[in-house]
Amino acid sequence: MLVSHTIEIPTDAHSAPGSALWRDAVVYQVYLRSYRDSDGDGIGDLGGLREGLEAIAALGCDAIWLNPCYASPQRDHGYDIADYLSIDPAYGTMADFDAVVKRAHDLGLRVLMDMVANHCSVDHAWFRAAVAAGRGSTERARFLFREGRGVDGELPPNNWDSVFGGLAWTRVVEPDGSPGQWYLHSFDSSQPDFDWRHPDVAEHFARVLRFWFDRGVDGFRIDVAHGHYKAADLADHPGGRGPEAGHNHAMWDQPEVHDIYRSWREIGREYEPEKYFVGEIWVPSPDRLADYLRPDELHNAFSFDLLVQPWEAARFRRAIDTGLTVGRGWPAWTLANHDVHRAVTRYGQEQPSDEALPTDMIAAARRTGPANLERGRRRARAATALALALPGSMYLYQGEELGLPEVFDLPDAARQDPIWTRSNGAELGRDGCRIPLPWTTDGDTFGFGATGSRHAWLPQPAWFGAYARETQAADPGSMLSLYRDLLAARRAHLGGAAALRWLPTARDSLLAFERGAFLCATNFSGEPLAVLPQWHNLTVLVSTQPLVDPAVIPPESTVWFVDERLAAS
Ligand code: NOJ
Repeated sequence: MLVSHTIEIPTDAHSAPGSALWRDAVVYQVYLRSYRDSDGDGIGDLGGLREGLEAIAALGCDAIWLNPCYASPQRDHGYDIADYLSIDPAYGTMADFDAVVKRAHDLGLRVLMDMVANHCSVDHAWFRAAVAAGRGSTERARFLFREGRGVDGELPPNNWDSVFGGLAWTRVVEPDGSPGQWYLHSFDSSQPDFDWRHPDVAEHFARVLRFWFDRGVDGFRIDVAHGHYKAADLADHPGGRGPEAGHNHAMWDQPEVHDIYRSWREIGREYEPEKYFVGEIWVPSPDRLADYLRPDELHNAFSFDLLVQPWEAARFRRAIDTGLTVGRGWPAWTLANHDVHRAVTRYGQEQPSDEALPTDMIAAARRTGPANLERGRRRARAATALALALPGSMYLYQGEELGLPEVFDLPDAARQDPIWTRSNGAELGRDGCRIPLPWTTDGDTFGFGATGSRHAWLPQPAWFGAYARETQAADPGSMLSLYRDLLAARRAHLGGAAALRWLPTARDSLLAFERGAFLCATNFSGEPLAVLPQWHNLTVLVSTQPLVDPAVIPPESTVWFVDERLAAS
């Protein structure tokens, strides 16, 4: 039996003005390319998002996080930025962007953008100038250019691997046509890393932040927030190269990175209410993560630990405790995003119990192999209800509310993720969780595109229509209806600051906690489990599976209860 204890919620970091707005926000992640296409070119855009904002508000969300929509050659679909102060024409114009912000605010939705400051695009004016200016130039000093090793510099400056596979270095041709220096790219070769030790870089990003804040953006999700600085000597990774090399400490989480967030927090504080920052951070220990959440740094960081856990009560509980501790009581939870496989697929697959190392965590959430989608759907429903019951904010990736499975069977020629190409097809990459959304059961693009449009940038499988938003909206048993019910009940019963207190249960596979008058119970087992007699007078708010007897939690399900008498007192 599990012991009962309360996770205390300290008030320091989150008593700052502005942050209270975000601490329990439900944020809908918009992968713009795949949300809705208003002009029929096959690519989701700002016009489509503007039309679709109502659906997000109706679901009960508080904010959106918009994946990058800046000018970009789209080699990594916007995570390769050519101009941080303009909108990519494929997505619309600055006027379209302003219209999205205005409409979102009118609907009561706040807007987070994506800040990609570790790297830019090879098409960025600074990088082009750096290549053209040659060795030793000031232009090159804004990036990490180095001479190669070997007799003629033909070997990379060190042994670092790119996150997307292959070397983290690419050699340029010098202005005189000779093979030249190498530049570092933690991701694709189209994404050169900045050298944050150069003052121009910090200055540039301060300007970028203010530019978007002045347009009404409420905050930023920070891409690879632990990556911006590299160890100054760029020393070889002692682990060597390849999948077994382990965490490369020199490449990530350098002490200087915290200066960036201190200065960004100050910029955010120039506004009222204060602008918000949530980091994408993968570090080897919870303590290292906590450093990013010091009172003068980021407001929040994603608790990816929960996302990568297999469907096991003890593992979920541990990840929740860690998340609550690191996030000072108000972490940012998520069960899916544009980098990992869809939740119903992950939970429907065989999930090995081995612990994923921090560097391999994303890989742990991108396994291939058969999935039992019935089971995956049951578990995803239960996991979502559990996560939405926790203190903290919740990030919902578009399409999860439709219960979309991962699309594995894309034709090779259709795949666009650089991970697929850089791994020579060894890794499928992330295209399968980025397929344009089905809005209607019929139509050439299932309502993703304007009437008459014939294609979507990634092909939608024929079965996608079965997941259409329009049919799910009318079906009380659908995933969409569950999300709507959960968000409504969360708003009604989980406002305020009630701390989480784990409750003893009769079986380890039943996790239960209360927050004031609210109680959440998740049955991880394949058997129905009886609740304790003292719960019998509670009222059921939501159950993720049909409930025959409120005193029995169905297999692989979550039930939300409220103690009406306590709630009224
Ligand atoms: C993390 C983003 O979520 C991912 O989509 C992107 O490819 C990398 N960072 C590089 O920017």
